Amino acid sequence: MKKFFLMLITISLVFFALSSKANSEGEAMFSALGCASCHGQGGYSTDANIPSLAGKDVEWIVQQLEYFQSGERQNSYMNAMAPMAEGFERSIAEYLSMQNPKQ
Ligand code: HEC
Repeated sequence: MKKFFLMLITISLVFFALSSKANSEGEAMFSALGCASCHGQGGYSTDANIPSLAGKDVEWIVQQLEYFQSGERQNSYMNAMAPMAEGFERSIAEYLSMQNPKQ
């Protein structure tokens, strides 16, 4: 009986870890790629020249990253940074969209 409960707990922990994966991956990549050094922790920019990303729409963020990658949107910093986010656009965008914009 004890083993059964332990197994139940393990299974629910695994599900929990899997369901929160996208968010934590986005969070990890946002810091690992250095995005946070300009856009601030959690996307709350403290620099007037750099836009805050917290609470922005997922699709909109993904779209902006693709525009910076293709050069359709021009900014020297972001044209260098956006290609590094390749493959993680959506998880980063999901993480940022979940942040409360009014903090
Ligand atoms: C060297 C500083 C710097 C770094 C590092 C940086 N950014 Fe930016 N980012 C900027 C600036 C400046 C802008 C505004 C560009 C403009 O005016 O068009 C911007 C714009 C953006 C925008 C569009 C926001 C808007 O309001 O239009 C997104 C989305 C974005 N960055 C995501 C990222 C992500 C994701 C990373 C990490 C891969 C990153 N940035 C790394 C400086 C930076």
